[in-house]
Amino acid sequence: MHVFEAVMNRLAVRRYEKKDVEDRIIGVMLHLATFANTPGNAQEWIFIVSRDLEIKTKLAKAALNQEWVKDAPVDIVLCADIRKSALKFGERGERLYAIESISSAAMVMMLAATELGLGTSWVAAIDEEKVKDILNLPENVRPIGILTVGYPVEEGEKFKRIDFENLTYVDRYGKKYDISYSLQPGTKYDYQLFEPLNKYVEKYAEEIKKRGKKRKIPTFEEFLRKLSK
Ligand SMILES: Cc1cc2nc3c(=O)[nH]c(=O)nc-3n(C[C@H](O)[C@H](O)[C@H](O)COP(=O)(O)O)c2cc1C
Repeated sequence: MHVFEAVMNRLAVRRYEKKDVEDRIIGVMLHLATFANTPGNAQEWIFIVSRDLEIKTKLAKAALNQEWVKDAPVDIVLCADIRKSALKFGERGERLYAIESISSAAMVMMLAATELGLGTSWVAAIDEEKVKDILNLPENVRPIGILTVGYPVEEGEKFKRIDFENLTYVDRYGKKYDISYSLQPGTKYDYQLFEPLNKYVEKYAEEIKKRGKKRKIPTFEEFLRKLSK
């Protein structure tokens, strides 16, 4: 699976098969997570992996009763060693960078899980003090969120995205960003980087061709929008 596909295929999964996820698979996710970026290579992350029903039940309660935290075969609690962040970057490091680092590790893990056929959900609505207590975390280790991991029993709901044109400006806030690539059937994008999208482009172009030549050919944004539905 290409990284573009993993990005587009990832979605929050909250129902899992009972089947366990092997440690070596969790290991792959954790290994990849440590390649995420951190400020000044601080690597503030601490991971707590749990399959223990008692712990997962407590975590679910601490996560405002989000039941799938208990039901997922594996919970990985992603924490930040805020002392590391503070030592390097003071208050901004502790309050902001630490959360950003852990979030980027979380996204790497979610993408890796997608590639591995696993479903995940990122649960950040937690009572931090309770989670610290449950996991016996030292004062300097702040829990940021729980990644629930398992084999999905069903496809999660695919939420519609706001089109990027409605969120992007040029130079100054308010100046619309106008992208005018157009999609021509049979034409491959010359950008090597788009290669993985080409197969979607080709498929889509084929569909349009079949429906008759009069049909309007979508712009690149329209095409991307269709992909995100
Ligand atoms: C910071 C953050 C906190 C989140 N917390 C929760 C949560 O506590 N429980 C939950 O079910 N999903 C949580 N999510 C997942 C979002 O609800 C989900 O990503 C969003 O609805 C979009 O759906 P998708 O991930 O399937 O595309 C969180 C996501 C982020 C980025």
